[in-house]
Amino acid sequence: MTDIITRAASAESVIHCGKGAFEAHAPKWKNKQIYIVTDSNVFAIYRHLLWGTFGNGFSLTVLPAGERSKNPKNLISILKDMLACGMKRGGVVIAFGGGVVGDIAGLAASLYMRGCRLVQIPTTLLSQVDSSVGGKTAVDLEGVKNVIGSFYQPEEVIVDPRFLQTLPEREIRCGLGEIIKYGALDKDIYNKIIKNCGNLKNENFLEEITADCIRHKARVVGEDERDENGVRKTLNLGHTTGHAFELFYGKKSHGEFVLIGMYYELYIARKYGICGGQYAENLEKLIKSVIKIPAYDDVEESAKFAAFDKKNDDAKITLIVPETEGKSAEIKLLPREYASLLAECRNKIKDGI
Ligand code: NAD
Ligand code: GLY
Repeated sequence: MTDIITRAASAESVIHCGKGAFEAHAPKWKNKQIYIVTDSNVFAIYRHLLWGTFGNGFSLTVLPAGERSKNPKNLISILKDMLACGMKRGGVVIAFGGGVVGDIAGLAASLYMRGCRLVQIPTTLLSQVDSSVGGKTAVDLEGVKNVIGSFYQPEEVIVDPRFLQTLPEREIRCGLGEIIKYGALDKDIYNKIIKNCGNLKNENFLEEITADCIRHKARVVGEDERDENGVRKTLNLGHTTGHAFELFYGKKSHGEFVLIGMYYELYIARKYGICGGQYAENLEKLIKSVIKIPAYDDVEESAKFAAFDKKNDDAKITLIVPETEGKSAEIKLLPREYASLLAECRNKIKDGI
């Protein structure tokens, strides 16, 4: 087990990582006033663990599993229920689930009585390597991702790989998407991924690389908690296109769209001569080893949704793309240029190149 500290400008968080972290750290919250937010899948598997760990005195919201639950209606219903349960400001919200639960529970904690205590216990690989750390909280609005949100640091994050044992294979793939993103931002992580590329789902590898990704994110959040000076923006590599596809197609999970978005944006980076050689080939192979890249017919239509991206500060579409090992670059494209590059990439996929 290892502890990592996030030193954000607003607050520090401690992240306990590794096998045994849940047993070692969750029970201390037992005698506090607890409000747990979880989802239907996670509750079905882990309800006995919750009762066994926290007793039966806690209050609870169980959201239907899936991205659609990250909405304002559910946010208000959690807040109303917290009030009805007599939650005090000193009470603690525990987000027990994947990124959907973490994002909405974090937002509820940041709003309730102007902010109550928050503990994140992420149960998907994606939420362990990324979303539970760094304090971004959100719900979607009118289907557009993360429109209503806040920056609100959890007091503690408990990252225990035990939860990955029940995670469907597809969700492991989603987490690998974010891990590969960190590989494109951090040379040491990249080298470790390449060394283990035949064995990315191995338990020990995942435990080690999760801590590496969290360390990277903790450094970034320490430098730019509120996404203001360009440092944190790098964590959005592949996400402009990923989010646009997610909005338009919606059937896959966030992590799968991140992988697909990284693939299309890598094509654009190569085309612009920003990323190339063996490095670009390795990244492409890596992404393709985790997911089959779709050749979307209506890619030009879906490209329009990139206009909603929070990184855009003018009419151009902003992309964060890989450059060389451990280094990313920013590209700004006119919407029609962007759409035609995506279409070009799609055609190459269709041609099997
Ligand atoms: P998710 O929360 O929808 O979980 C994926 C699926 O796994 C769900 O069906 C869930 O019920 C199930 N599940 C969760 N834990 C399980 C377990 N241990 N065993 C079996 N099933 C389990 O999705 P996610 O991929 O964890 O998170 C995606 C969300 O995170 C998106 O909304 C995305 O926008 C957000 N996100 C936020 C940040 C951030 O910094 N706040 C970063 C990245 C992603
Ligand atoms: N996942 C992107 C961020 O936390 O900034």
